[in-house]
Amino acid sequence: MSGPVSTKIEDRIAVIEINNPPVNAASHAVREGLISAVLDADANADVDAIVIYGAGNTFIAGADIKEFGQPPKAPHLPQLIDEMEAVSKPTVAALHGTALGGGLETALGSHYRIALATARFGLPEVHLGLLPGAGGTQRLPRVIPVAKAAQMMTSGTMIGAQEALQLGLIDEIAEGDDIRSAGFAYAQKLVADGAGVRPTSARAPMPVAEGELDAVRAKVAKAARGLIAPLKIMDAIEAALTLPFDEGQQKERALFMELMADEQRSAMIHAFFADRQVGKVPELKTGTPRDIRKIGVVGGGTMGAGIATSALLAGLDVTLAERDDEAAAKALETVSGHLSGAVKRGKLKQEKHDAIIGGKFRTTTDYADFADVDLVIEAVFESMEVKKDVFGKLDMICKPGAILASNTSYLNIDEIAAMTQRPEDVIGLHFFSPAHVMRLLEVVVGKKTSDDVVASGFALAKKMRKIAVRSGVCDGFIGNRILNTYATAINGAVLAGASPYDVDRAMEEFGLAMGLFRVADLAGLDIGWANRKRMAPDRDPREQYAEFADKICELGRYGRKTGRGFYIHGADGSETPDPEVLDIIAAERAAKGITPREISDTEIIDRYMAAMVNESAKVVGEGIALRPLDVDITLLNGYGFPRWRGGPLHYADTVGLDKILNDIKIFQKEDDFFWQPAPLLEKLAAEGGKFADLNG
Ligand code: 3HC
Ligand code: NAI
Repeated sequence: MSGPVSTKIEDRIAVIEINNPPVNAASHAVREGLISAVLDADANADVDAIVIYGAGNTFIAGADIKEFGQPPKAPHLPQLIDEMEAVSKPTVAALHGTALGGGLETALGSHYRIALATARFGLPEVHLGLLPGAGGTQRLPRVIPVAKAAQMMTSGTMIGAQEALQLGLIDEIAEGDDIRSAGFAYAQKLVADGAGVRPTSARAPMPVAEGELDAVRAKVAKAARGLIAPLKIMDAIEAALTLPFDEGQQKERALFMELMADEQRSAMIHAFFADRQVGKVPELKTGTPRDIRKIGVVGGGTMGAGIATSALLAGLDVTLAERDDEAAAKALETVSGHLSGAVKRGKLKQEKHDAIIGGKFRTTTDYADFADVDLVIEAVFESMEVKKDVFGKLDMICKPGAILASNTSYLNIDEIAAMTQRPEDVIGLHFFSPAHVMRLLEVVVGKKTSDDVVASGFALAKKMRKIAVRSGVCDGFIGNRILNTYATAINGAVLAGASPYDVDRAMEEFGLAMGLFRVADLAGLDIGWANRKRMAPDRDPREQYAEFADKICELGRYGRKTGRGFYIHGADGSETPDPEVLDIIAAERAAKGITPREISDTEIIDRYMAAMVNESAKVVGEGIALRPLDVDITLLNGYGFPRWRGGPLHYADTVGLDKILNDIKIFQKEDDFFWQPAPLLEKLAAEGGKFADLNG
């Protein structure tokens, strides 16, 4: 048989192989091949049982996401699985790699399931703004406890083979690593034992205790934060428990189609592909990554300690330099604390923790200990003078070929590189706080940075399980530059009449986990203050500068760490609006002659988004970001932008570039200096184009 599905009959067992690299997605050709292979085997008098497995690294990893949004082509996965389940001979799904989404649904439609010990299982449709739409919401609650089924579907997290066995999701764990042979042997055993068919749909749903589903639903609603799929999944599960299978499945279909038609689905699928596209940068074609095993970190404060932790968790050898013994001891303590946290969360084994502390990690006060490292990441104070001094010294000590990286948030990498005799080996590696948790890494490419060094930055990110985004050099790179711009727009809204608490409420309702002022309090107001002081000499006199944040800092209120900032922070973690903050803002309005007016939540978001999109368009237009998707990924992974909105430039495409440009023109009447439309935005709006057209 040609095509991605083929059958071999051996010893009265039909072994059906799905071969659709890279992940055996259930594309149209796979669906067509699979159903005819199963039906042929069922009709074949020489066959007693049927095994389905995937060639290569994995069983089916889901429906083919590339087909979503296109006209659906029969056979559809739900019908295929129903037909497969209805055959007269026992079917075995032999699972390895990741059985995900439509793949796990295919396995649930098979009568028996065997898996390698390394296999993993999940229904990640929720991450695409969808629900399992091929019977998963109906069959899973018939096989495993309902609360667990709901948790798997609403969170999209995977489980391993041991847990799957305990839950009853699979029947056996195979020995060894040959899934084809294991599936074959299992089918032979079933035939020998006289086992018959065992359709999941014929089983009764698992029992649920009174009120259990409501409790799960309440938890899911709380965690969903604007994402609609999780509650639709709960509706589908409820249908599984209350309706006959066929009706439940119809309900599932209707809910699935609703989600398929929703903007959230297209936003999340954009994010899925953008996550993978963002790593495709030109230097990876021309550059060869250098071998990085030993790294040095300069500075063991918030960022240095986090970066060291992240590198240690990735298996690297780390030497961290601080200014004196006391600071070095403190850094050691912080890193140990982070690593102990990883042990507690089950991310690191105790033995590995002990091996790191006793072997792979050391602190020093002498840069001479960096003589044999492959890469140094500098994370000292955000001061050009201090950084230049550090790079001059590193250049003298580090071996030829060692990469010198800076974690600066804003400063010019080219100016730092110029302090060395090897500017081609200098790069920005901008981690986000907390560096051992946040997944984003901006790889900042200087004028002279070599392609090998860029490729090394991307390879390091992969090793550290980070999402790397390539950025050019400008003040604040992609993310902080855009952040500064929308923060200015928000400050404008506050001066015009909104309170910081109105802003946070509007942003949180829009889908952000935390509003701008809550985040500022958490990060520490002193960081932004220091940056504003740095920028003050270059500030354009036409800028309508909002002073209230500086005034709060002048009172020694830096946010959560000092107990007061925009909010009053209680010892119990509570955050209360601070009337004194409102007084400070009112005084500034009065001094500037501004009469406050009512600012609606819609206007707050329009200002926030118009500023963000406009600056993003400048960042793309100037070539700082390679593509619009690089901006989207930065904002999604580093700035809490809701994934279900796809990133600012996807959002702009959805609401229409005319609308954004129009908003800018309205706000321009108030502040002509700040609200200058980006040439790229104007061009695309005039042409009726979209940012997506530039993603390639
Ligand atoms: N459809 C189409 N392409 C897919 C795909 C899918 N389901 N899953 C992965 N790919 C593509 C990726 O885009 C990537 O393409 P590229 O090389 O051109 O960039 C390639 O396969 C390899 O993917 P990864 O880089 O992600 O490879 P990893 O080895 O890191 O991860 C994976 C493999 C765990 C399978 C991961 O790709 C993944 O999580 N995929 C998505 C799984 C998923 O969401 N399944 C549910 C689909 S929806 C569904 O089934 C609906 C049903 O209920 C009706
Ligand atoms: P921090 O003040 O917490 O830590 C800086 C550390 O560097 C201090 O422990 C200090 O003792 C040490 N240090 C100073 N000069 C040194 C030298 N010459 N040699 C060795 N150690 C020295 O600062 P933080 O927040 O960790 O920031 C560090 C860098 O990371 C800055 O450039 C900052 O802009 C950047 N950054 C900060 C983020 C944040 O959220 N805090 C996020 C991303 C980047």
